[in-house]
Amino acid sequence: MRIAVTGGRGVLGRLVVERLAGHDVRVVSRRSGPGLVSADLKTGRGLAEAVAGVDAVVHCATEMRRAAEVTMTRNLVEAVRDAHVVYVSIVGVDRVPLSYYRGKLAAEEVVAGSGLPWTVLRATQFHDLLRVGFARLSSLPLLFAPNVPVQPVEVAEVAQRLAELATGEPLGRAPDFGGPEVRDVPDLARSFLAATGRRRRVVRVSLPGGVFRAYRAGGHLGGDGGRTTFEQHLAALPDPFGGYRHN
Ligand SMILES: NC(=O)c1ccc[n+]([C@@H]2O[C@H](COP(=O)([O-])OP(=O)(O)OC[C@H]3O[C@@H](n4cnc5c(N)ncnc54)[C@H](OP(=O)(O)O)[C@@H]3O)[C@@H](O)[C@H]2O)c1
Repeated sequence: MRIAVTGGRGVLGRLVVERLAGHDVRVVSRRSGPGLVSADLKTGRGLAEAVAGVDAVVHCATEMRRAAEVTMTRNLVEAVRDAHVVYVSIVGVDRVPLSYYRGKLAAEEVVAGSGLPWTVLRATQFHDLLRVGFARLSSLPLLFAPNVPVQPVEVAEVAQRLAELATGEPLGRAPDFGGPEVRDVPDLARSFLAATGRRRRVVRVSLPGGVFRAYRAGGHLGGDGGRTTFEQHLAALPDPFGGYRHN
């Protein structure tokens, strides 16, 4: 199959590209260079050419600003002629009132209303997000950890699922993809400290506001499919203090 991956150089997108080995894959990026197809989803530059003649698009490009997420997705579905669009979203975008999540929910609606064959996969937070957060927070003498549950997932497992979805039949809303365990963030922070040998006292913090309340209520939890635990994720890394990994 001929498959375009937007955000194909990003944390998730790179792994999707790897999992699609054997297919004719177009790695879409704003940059140009060997192995890349240059396009800007926000302005539309190069987009029609990037997706011309593809059978499927895995849409992993993202921007934290709500309006940009919607614009990029709208530009994408307007450029696609007749291909299966697979969009990756986040569990709880309809329950946690974060601006970024609202953008993702609106982008899901753009995909669903595009008239194209589509699949939306919502995933929970990646292990890397927590690990990189703990690495930064543990530079202070006390590690302040929000008192919320989380169900982290290994990004490579999300990538594998997206690759399967892109090469299969369109599903509409696919079953949510979540990690194997629901854990409290302070508990995961202790696991990070144990794995790295860094000694810090973990301080549970409660934050005010509707977003925190929604996280406390578990609005972002759900789904299954992920098998790797946070401890296994840490044990597999040469340097848990390193930045985001791409394999
Ligand atoms: N992180 C998590 O815990 C998590 C959990 C569930 C779902 N997700 C979803 O997974 C997706 C990928 O996340 P990620 O962490 O892999 O993101 P990321 O590493 O930040 O990658 C996003 C990519 O988007 C591309 N991009 C941004 N603006 C663009 C534009 N105007 N035109 C074309 N490309 C543009 C960038 O590519 P270039 O710089 O190469 O142009 C960048 O590599 C997102 O939709 C996110 O919401 C993430």
